[in-house]
Amino acid sequence: MCGIVGYIGEEQAAPFLLGGLQKLEYRGYDSAGVAVYNGTGLHVVKSKGRLSVLDGILQGGRALPGVVGIGHTRWATHGAPSDVNSHPQVSDGGMFAVVHNGIIENYLQLKNHLLRRGVEFVSDTDTEVVAQMLEYYYKGDVLEAIGQVTDRVEGSYALGIICADCPEKVFAVRKDSPLIVGLGHGENFIASDIPAILSKTRDICRLRDREIAVLEKDTARFFNADREPIEKEPERVQWDISAAEKGGFEHFMMKEICEQPEALRKTISPRIRDGRIVLDDVELTAEQVRRISKVFIVACGTSYHVGVVAKYAFEKLLRVPMEVDVASEFRYRDPILDEDTLVIIISQSGETADTLAALREAKKRGARVLSIVNVVGSTIASESDDVLYTWAGPEIAVASTKAYSTQLAVIYLVALYMAQELGHTPPAEMAAYIEDLQRLPDLASASLADKETIQYFASKYFNAKDIYFIGRNVDYAASLEASLKLKEISYIHSEAYTGGELKHGPISLLEDGTLVVAACTYGRLFDKMMSNVREVKARGAVVLGITTRDREESLKQETDYQFCIPKITDFMLPSLSIIPLQLFAYYVASMKGCDIDKPRNLAKSVTVE
Ligand code: AGP
Repeated sequence: MCGIVGYIGEEQAAPFLLGGLQKLEYRGYDSAGVAVYNGTGLHVVKSKGRLSVLDGILQGGRALPGVVGIGHTRWATHGAPSDVNSHPQVSDGGMFAVVHNGIIENYLQLKNHLLRRGVEFVSDTDTEVVAQMLEYYYKGDVLEAIGQVTDRVEGSYALGIICADCPEKVFAVRKDSPLIVGLGHGENFIASDIPAILSKTRDICRLRDREIAVLEKDTARFFNADREPIEKEPERVQWDISAAEKGGFEHFMMKEICEQPEALRKTISPRIRDGRIVLDDVELTAEQVRRISKVFIVACGTSYHVGVVAKYAFEKLLRVPMEVDVASEFRYRDPILDEDTLVIIISQSGETADTLAALREAKKRGARVLSIVNVVGSTIASESDDVLYTWAGPEIAVASTKAYSTQLAVIYLVALYMAQELGHTPPAEMAAYIEDLQRLPDLASASLADKETIQYFASKYFNAKDIYFIGRNVDYAASLEASLKLKEISYIHSEAYTGGELKHGPISLLEDGTLVVAACTYGRLFDKMMSNVREVKARGAVVLGITTRDREESLKQETDYQFCIPKITDFMLPSLSIIPLQLFAYYVASMKGCDIDKPRNLAKSVTVE
């Protein structure tokens, strides 16, 4: 996720662009840049690092005169953070400057087409392809060139464009990534999100997919994908500035919980082509997959809990032994690895000290390392043999939610890819798995729909002293994550146990009214879980049950409260059951008045041992 802004008016553009980008830094902050028409051409200043670096170079904008410009703060997806990979990206003839939020899925194919025609590229980004295509199709009409480009690109984009031939205009177009137009008096704006322009205007128009905006300082015109003029109704923004940075949500955590369907869509869809899994530039040939004798998953915290789910997926699909380890243990336990071991490292930040140390330990012992990371160009990403990014966008809340979901999605993709390469899974079964994976974003939306039920339940138990989560198989894996979410933001004591383990000690903890959340979505052990529910109820517990919709009536007979999720492939169930459990933790912490986005004693990235 990146932040883009644009300005056209009578005031200097650069100071506004910098101020707007500062309001969008939550969307991405590994590099930033601006392009301004300065009377003779497009002048671009950009740099790796936080926005403050660019601000210093531009002396607050004074160093870059001009009244038309675009700006960008980056969350890298293609091309590690660097000066040259920063936006704006410029066409090689200097005619177009472009800022982009999104992922051009077919950029390599388009890039090769232009390379064969002698176009020279300087960056590793997908965005530069757009700038070069604009110049390639430009025959004097920018609107037509934009249409030619958007007819050919696949994927998601919000584009801000300026052209050296028409310095009195800013152009914008979007598909799947948000983009708004701000309407001022003698000036107009574009932005990824409302906070960037709220200081200037509250009158906006939201671009819909494939709509194009052509802004001059006194006019804002809109066109559809066929370049036909359309009318758009402005709307008045009522938010205050601080709420706007969170997209109208009270906390980043809730915003990120609600972003999960979109984050899943961005992470999954570019990796499924014609019914097959395609894994970016990961070099895992069928021969290499066959040689893998053991898989380790190593991570910390929530990322470790993803590994617990992964074990079920990998062992079912590949019948290859898998060990899941917390990094702080793995790095010191003299693990048995060799060149036939695949070690999968999972980390949102890509900077967790224990996880990085575990990666180095694995490489020292000859293992191949594939990492699943959310921050492009992070240390873990740079030291891995292969990297698969979770295109979740920046995760600001300390409690991880959308990173967990997209890490799970990448785990499913890797397991299915390896099964695809091994060729042991019957085609119909593989097709069913892939279909479920493609349905996951919409099913996640469905799981989000009934927040009120969870909020009501949380209102009854936010004063609890202890809350236990139980489950079996993948439900146990989800319970581990649910318990961590609850304790890290609400400070309520919580534990997760396998259902079968209760009678071996933990059940002595139960008292009258103790809350137990029973995850019972895994159908094959549903009856076993019902026995466990009866066990805890016999000791006075109150039980919230979570299951798939087809078992709702059975669950109602045994539990006090129920929440249901859609059915999906067994090893993908945690992707859906975790959503009500994230919401439960959020509402409990909210009702306790906790600092949800920044819980006490915690940091977003634990870069020390
Ligand atoms: C999760 O909510 C926590 N913030 C924490 O457990 C986190 O998952 C852990 O520190 C690992 O971080 P990483 O994924 O960035 O490596």
